[in-house]
Amino acid sequence: MASRSVTRGVRRGKGMASMQKRLSRVSALQDVMAGTRAGPSNGQGRAGTQRRLARALAARRGGNGHGNPGQDRCAAVVGGGYVGLALTAYLVTKGRSVLLVEADPERRQALTRGEMPIYEAGVDSVLARALREAALVVTGDLGHALDATRMVFITVGTPSAADDHPDLTAVTSVVSELRAHAKPGTVVVLKSTVPPGTGRRIQEQLQGPPFRLPVVSCPEFLREGSALRDMHTAARHVIGGDDSEAMARVAAVVAAPGTPVIMTDSASAELIKYGSNSFLALKISFANELARFADQVGADIVPVVEGMGLDPRIGAEGLRAGLGFGGCCLPKDVRALVGAAGRHDTGFGTLEAALQVNAAQRALFAEKIRRELGGTLNGRRVAVLGLAFKPGTDDVREAPSLDVIRYLLGHGAEVTAHDPCAIGKAAPLLPLDVRLTPDPYDCLSGADAAAIVTEWPEYVQLDWDRARQVMRHPLLVDGRNCLDPGEIARLGFRYRSLGRPPTQGDCSTHRPQSSPPARVAPT
Ligand code: UGA
Repeated sequence: MASRSVTRGVRRGKGMASMQKRLSRVSALQDVMAGTRAGPSNGQGRAGTQRRLARALAARRGGNGHGNPGQDRCAAVVGGGYVGLALTAYLVTKGRSVLLVEADPERRQALTRGEMPIYEAGVDSVLARALREAALVVTGDLGHALDATRMVFITVGTPSAADDHPDLTAVTSVVSELRAHAKPGTVVVLKSTVPPGTGRRIQEQLQGPPFRLPVVSCPEFLREGSALRDMHTAARHVIGGDDSEAMARVAAVVAAPGTPVIMTDSASAELIKYGSNSFLALKISFANELARFADQVGADIVPVVEGMGLDPRIGAEGLRAGLGFGGCCLPKDVRALVGAAGRHDTGFGTLEAALQVNAAQRALFAEKIRRELGGTLNGRRVAVLGLAFKPGTDDVREAPSLDVIRYLLGHGAEVTAHDPCAIGKAAPLLPLDVRLTPDPYDCLSGADAAAIVTEWPEYVQLDWDRARQVMRHPLLVDGRNCLDPGEIARLGFRYRSLGRPPTQGDCSTHRPQSSPPARVAPT
């Protein structure tokens, strides 16, 4: 595969010098790959691989003022999930080579073929190119990767365990492999989200003998859907540990020039991650509770949060009222911090409240649909638009859509659902009687209500006039406040959102495709 891409390069008229550099890099990483297929090779072969890899990697750029720019041109990234793949894409665009270590054989094979197990804008094309150019090698053998690099990023998952304490099994298993195989001079970079104190404990385990492996906590702040952009335009980098040389090496690899870098101890770095995600969750729940109040007093939450957010002490991000926070991070991290605070007898009342508000928000939305349909969902068809926990991703973990659909079905509704890209991931989590369709107009056809659950641009740009024509009743309940109430009402919809005054269009122009008209509650 690599030699084919070299041929294409020649056809495109690449210069001789750059071709030689590329050939040298390709041959070095092919050696690593070959060794990986064959299992750990003998010392001679590995030494040769390292020499060639060093030569090849010298062709790649690096350095940003921290550490020695010539060092760590090749990194190992352990864990091919969201963070691992986005980090890999970021590193290769910064001119580094990456050995991506993925334990799951199916996922590994797919990655080697250039197939992404996640939907994340930009990451797939960067990784496909890196594979072609041999700047990326996917392997299952961490021991072998450790021969070729002196910087290892741990990016494995830390899902919630039954007691809300993060399950650190995957991290622990990587650490035992590092103890067995890492070479002197290797820096271990902990990117997985872990409870404060974990980095320090891992440092004790990697203290030696025969040698100490410095552990640096370097939490990740990327958002799904904009992962690569977030990495290139990070607001800050956080580097925690007790070995300043190792910390400078990590900063040299991860930090973009001009980005603030916070150097601190590892527990503080880990707490910055939990504190940040929890504070975002707190803001979202605050905005949602304020939206409930706005509903009561006839205020509009959109200008309210806009007015608040312009105050730099408050900030505009995380103040959009809607269906609340989902995904694999905010809910899990808030629960973990509440649990950890409980175990330390400090408690975390504000975060407990944020979780309660978040859960209630989903029920409140579904309840609003029921109320707007005259108090009963029996025999009513609701078209759910959006399954992903937010736009730009196919991730449905802890997505509001799942709870909303469960409520609707539980109260007798018939549910059709659409999402531009999350249907595949949502299907196994939804009851069979939910009709999933790749066509939004098909989803809306014959519906008594449309419910916007994820604010995909596709829904903002939908031909709502056409949508109204295919629906049985023109009720639109917007769980993300993403449509313009005036415009939607002008099309003849009865439009309801969260924390904004209801609008009532002229329904006399509505010509439903199928009858009978739905029973509607008085407004
Ligand atoms: C979140 C953090 O924003 C990242 O900084 C962090 O790195 C990441 O978790 C992680 O720990 O890995 P992410 O889960 O991708 O990123 O999503 P966000 O964009 O933060 O949104 C989280 C949820 O809050 C979504 O369900 C979104 O719809 C909701 N949200 C967000 C709101 O309801 N209102 C807002 O104003 C913002």
